[in-house]
Parts: sequence; structure tokens; C-alpha cells
Amino acid sequence: MAARRILLIIAGGIAAYKSLELIRRLKERDLAVRAILTKAGAEFVTPLAVASLAGEPVFSELFSLTDEAEMGHIRLSREADLVVVAPATADLLAKMANGLADDLASTALLATDKPVLVAPAMNPQMWQHPATLRNVAQLRADGVRVVGPNPGDTACGETGLGRMAEPDQIALAIEATLAIAGQPLAGLRALVTSGPTHEAIDPVRYIANRSSGKQGHAIAAALAAAGAQVVLVSGPVAEPPPADLRLIKVASAEEMLAACQANLPQDVVIGAAAVADWRVAARAPHKLKKAPGLASPRLELTANPDILRTLARPGPMRPALVIGFAAETEQLLAHARAKLASKGCDWILANDVSTETGVFGGGHNTVQLVRGDAEPEAWPRSTKMAVAARLVAAIACHFESRRTAAA
Ligand code: C5P
Repeated sequence: MAARRILLIIAGGIAAYKSLELIRRLKERDLAVRAILTKAGAEFVTPLAVASLAGEPVFSELFSLTDEAEMGHIRLSREADLVVVAPATADLLAKMANGLADDLASTALLATDKPVLVAPAMNPQMWQHPATLRNVAQLRADGVRVVGPNPGDTACGETGLGRMAEPDQIALAIEATLAIAGQPLAGLRALVTSGPTHEAIDPVRYIANRSSGKQGHAIAAALAAAGAQVVLVSGPVAEPPPADLRLIKVASAEEMLAACQANLPQDVVIGAAAVADWRVAARAPHKLKKAPGLASPRLELTANPDILRTLARPGPMRPALVIGFAAETEQLLAHARAKLASKGCDWILANDVSTETGVFGGGHNTVQLVRGDAEPEAWPRSTKMAVAARLVAAIACHFESRRTAAA
């Protein structure tokens, strides 16, 4: 298959330096990158730096004889699978929202028939200005996806929402947008749990596990790309927050359950978190101290609530579709079937997490989808985003057939 191609538009903002890093992240994912550098963008990063990283010439001028001869602006915008604007300045967002086309970047954006993703970056006041809010709302309504901006310090010395999303965060949004065609889950509410939980021993120590949150975050990102209204309840992870969803950060299993319950009702729940089965019965209020002659502390454990089982309990608040994971190191299918029954969920994604599979923390996964009595579906080993996209397709199909049956 030919490499998927990103048309990256780099507009004029100090965050443009992060776009260089973004190009690297995209190349690592085997994506081809062609860049348009606006006149203002070229004040922050050089065409040579962009071209060297992208491995392709950079385009910048609408009325350049060479640019137009080599690649017209229409072709430039059509040959990409996805158009990404990073950084997207307030000015370029305003042009996009109003259909202005007075330079190569805005013309390509108006001419494209491909999905568009923007990563805004600007002064926090500019981001909060009613004009910008209006423009962004218009762009969303036009189907443009928005990643960030993030809170924090901005280069202008002010603090607030305005920092461009980090390259990894943009790359995740790009992967999700490329993986999903259209918006098959528009109007659906989805809740995803992801990552490990941390069960405190004392104020500085905790019990955890090796879950990275990669699979859960990929699922949440794919659901959001598919148009679902997503709440992601995540334990402590290093994964970047996906675009277009509500992220609730928690530490312990009890906090995770409370956050899930506070966000019902939902149409679909996907429990991808590796929730600790036990927590320390009596958490020490102060750091446990060692001292010569003092016996080692004995930790008494007590069972954590089972979040999935609790959410899958029959009742008016039960989501229509409850999906769990079975992370096993042996007898995968037998355990998955047993889990389906014992937890009362509808589907289980069974994956082998033996150390040699590299599933924990790795970028790939091999899963089997177990649904009731039906034959399990073995999905080929693929990236966690591809697994997420396939799950989204299965969910879309499930809700579509329910709709057809009800009609
Ligand atoms: O029982 P086990 O932990 O193997 O089940 C795995 C599935 O159950 C996963 O989907 C996980 O997110 C969910 N789970 C949960 N709450 C727990 C334990 C597991 O939601 N306390």
C-alpha cells in the first residue's frame, strides 16, 4: 500500500518549532509529509529545515511559477489523505472559517476534499476572544477536527489555554483521523477506561501495573474521530490526551469507578483499564519509615470494586453495549468466555499479555473478539490504533443493526 500522505501547513507562530518535531513523529509512523510554509511561518522555521525533515520540497507561494508548475495548489491539497494545520494561528482559523483564500495555505484549505485537522496555537486572550471561539465553532460544524490548545505558559509570557498540542498528541489525532472514515458513531455517547490504577501504600508509594494506556487511549481517540461523544477516564499514563474528548484523570480504582458512575448514562462502555484487583486495606497517613530492628511492614490487601461488573449490572443506567478486555497469559479464550459471563458484559477483547508478546507498553496488539456464543473473531496482529479502528467498525455495525431492527 502506498504511504499515506499528510499535507502539513505550518503557519506563523512560535509553536512552528514543534512542527519540525511533528514531522519526525509522522515519518516514524511511515507517513509521507509534504509541507506548506506560510510567509509568517517562514519567519519562525526555515524552508530548509522543513524540507530536510520531510524529505520533500516545501511549498510556500501561490503565485510562484516554480511552485505552480511543479505542483498546483489543487493537486497539493488533493494528493494528501489528510490536511493538518500546525500551528493554526487565529488569523488562519478566521480565514478558514470564512472561506478566504489569499495565499497558498488558505487556498489549499479551501480546495481540499480531504479531512482537515487543526492544532491551534496563540495567546490565551486571542483563543478566548469571541471571534476565535465563533470561528472554531464554525470549523467544527464544518467537520474540521481540533486538537488542543493545551493549558500552560505561552511564549508571550501569559498563562492559559493557547499552547499548541504536543507533537505526540497531534500524531495520535492524525492516526485516529486516518484510521476512521466518516463519522459512523455521530450522536453516540461512549466512556472508555484506560491505563493502570495506582493504589497508595502511603503518601509516596503505590502499587501499580505495567499498563501503558496505549490501547485504551487509541480506542478513545478512534471513537472521538468517529464522531462519538467520548469521556476517557484514565489512570496515570504517559500517553498524550486524545483530541475532541473529555479526559478525566484518576489514580485509584475507587476514583475510577466514581468518575465512571458520575458520567452515566452512556451508550457504550469500554473497559480497557488494567484496574488493580486489590488495594492496601489501611493506607498509611505518613511515609512508612524503616529503622534498625523494626520489622518490615506487612501490607494487608482488600478487594477493589470491579468497575466493569458494576457498570454492566442490569438496570436503567446500564449502557447498551459493555465491552471488557481480558488480558491473559494462558488459556486465552477459556478465560475470556468465563469473564464475559462473570462480568455480565456483552463483548470481550481477549489479548495475550505474556511478556514475550510485548503487548504491555508496545505499539501492537493481537486480539480476539468474543461475543456471546458466536465464534470468536481472531484479528491479525496490528497497531493498537488499527485494533481501535476495527473495534469502532464493529461498534458502528452493532448500533446500525439495532437501529435497522427497531425501524
Ligand atoms: O478480571 P480482570 O481484571 O481480568 O478483567 C479485565 C477487564 O475488567 C478489563 O476490561 C478491565 O478494565 C476490567 N476491570 C474493571 N475493574 C476491575 C478489574 C477489571 O473494570 N476491578
